[in-house]
Amino acid sequence: MALPDSFIQELKARSDIADVISGYVNLKRTGRNMVGLCPFHGEKTPSFHVNVENAYFHCFGCGAGGDVITFIRRIENLDYIDAVKLLAQRAGLSMPADGVDDKTARVRARIFEANREAARFYHHMLYRPQGAPALAYLRGRGLKETTIKHFGLGYAPPGRFALTNFMRQKGFRDDELVAANLAFQGRGGGGVDRFVDRVMFPIIDLRGNVIAFGGRLMGDGKPKYLNTSDTLVFRKSSNLFALNFAKNGGEKRMILVEGYMDVIALHQAGFTNAVATLGTSLTVDHARLLARYTDEVVVCYDADAAGQKAADRAIPMLRDAGLLVRVLAVPGSKDPDEYIRSFGDQGPARFKQLLDATGNDVEYRLQKIKAACNMESSEGKIAYLSGAAGVLATLDSRMEQEVYAGRLSEEVGIQKTAVMQQVDKLVKKRDRSQKTKQFREIQQRVSGQKDTVNPQRAENLRAANAEEALIAYVINNQDMAKTIVSDLPPEGMVTDFNRRVYQTVTGRILEGRPVDLMDLSQEFSMEEMGRLTRILSAAPITGETWESAQEYMRVIRYEKEKITASDIQSAGLDDINQYLQKLKELKK
Ligand code: CTP
Ligand code: MN
Repeated sequence: MALPDSFIQELKARSDIADVISGYVNLKRTGRNMVGLCPFHGEKTPSFHVNVENAYFHCFGCGAGGDVITFIRRIENLDYIDAVKLLAQRAGLSMPADGVDDKTARVRARIFEANREAARFYHHMLYRPQGAPALAYLRGRGLKETTIKHFGLGYAPPGRFALTNFMRQKGFRDDELVAANLAFQGRGGGGVDRFVDRVMFPIIDLRGNVIAFGGRLMGDGKPKYLNTSDTLVFRKSSNLFALNFAKNGGEKRMILVEGYMDVIALHQAGFTNAVATLGTSLTVDHARLLARYTDEVVVCYDADAAGQKAADRAIPMLRDAGLLVRVLAVPGSKDPDEYIRSFGDQGPARFKQLLDATGNDVEYRLQKIKAACNMESSEGKIAYLSGAAGVLATLDSRMEQEVYAGRLSEEVGIQKTAVMQQVDKLVKKRDRSQKTKQFREIQQRVSGQKDTVNPQRAENLRAANAEEALIAYVINNQDMAKTIVSDLPPEGMVTDFNRRVYQTVTGRILEGRPVDLMDLSQEFSMEEMGRLTRILSAAPITGETWESAQEYMRVIRYEKEKITASDIQSAGLDDINQYLQKLKELKK
């Protein structure tokens, strides 16, 4: 499974971390580091650092960190092997033949094949006698034959084994179907179809792979839509329906809608830049993904209260991703699909009119506040002003703030400077509370409350700190590895995660293999790489003496004994006395 060290060395030499990251983040040089706005969490002041010399990145805000492969894994949402492939391609290196047959990579490839085969099956079923009601349903919803083909829509027939039996004939094993979430494991252990008697919408990624499905019941019943749960090839929080088509539309903006049918209706009407989330509300990942393909997003959610609430949540996320946001509310219809259909042949033209008249979200938000205030009374005007100032305070551009403050002052008959004063006050307040929030988050992480990488760290802080310092020491003083391991074998480590790191690192060193972050990233998850990066970046590279290493080992041994003590406690007085004696000796 493992890639040869020599290949990783070559890739390392040819993948300059600053170069690679600059393709995604605007980096500025500060001394030896480069800094920028972290692409992995929303922020306004840069806490994302790239250490060029030691080839790692680290965000002090969200804790993300690692080598260049980890960066690609995170930002491109790829697994280890695919991230390496991407970097290799970029560097003009061909992958070693035995590196590709990694087990997960094999399962992933099988899931892609299974999904493709299943999509063909479902589509085919639409034109069989038992698919007639489904085809009629889609046509009844105004879809043309070409649209059905374009989106590869299909039908999952009734019965519990229709797909499973077909796939078995095609040579797929039941566990592969379960891994693809096309089937679940029945009581007897075999596969049972997940999608039954539903109209099927295949979800296709940017490389043209079928990665998931959405399935709609034709009648009433629950759930109306059933979607593929997350699998090895699908994360619903970072994929968008029809982005594969929309990204090629050549449009400078995209339309974000709520449902599959809205997307399909819009594409059929000529708006091929429409996309939708997949049965979830918008996430930061979605917003970032959109920002990679467009500058402007028109949010066109359902007209009901739920849709408006979702829009209110989505707008700031899209803005934070650097997108220009406009909001389109369809008048008199539930959603864009119904709106377009309600005008028959005129639908596309009518929607185009709405689109052209769309204001940006500031106007939309101001309108909403204004509608809720009684502008005839001075109380109402004041309420409007303070609400409006709150909206302006969320804008990043001073010029934008000035423009709207000017309009407000005319509207309400108050000095513009007074409006701006109020805005500035709110901006300051917001900045303060944001800083506090960030600070709290960092503190929480540091104190280990949310420590998923090393859950034992918080309870064994003293030991964990010494372990981490020792790990950094051994990496920076590799000639001492042999002595250190014989003084303190991996079993002597207190926390499981650090033990694993220590074991991996010393094991590699003793075998004469490299231990740069990039060499380790095959063995650790993205989150774990973030921790490793912190461990290494926190340690002084030079100047650590052999005495300090011995001190770390002494602390670890002492803490380890203390833990064994609580196990012994029930054993009896003799043992405890013995133990205390030992502890005294260790402390000397
Ligand atoms: N959705 C879902 N699961 C549900 C309901 C909805 O995943 N039980 C998702 C689907 O992606 C759906 C979107 O939310 O496309 C919007 O749902 P909704 O507004 O209820 O349906 P419509 O898109 O209007 O669907 P239709 O027009 O087919 O009734
Ligand atoms: Mn609908």
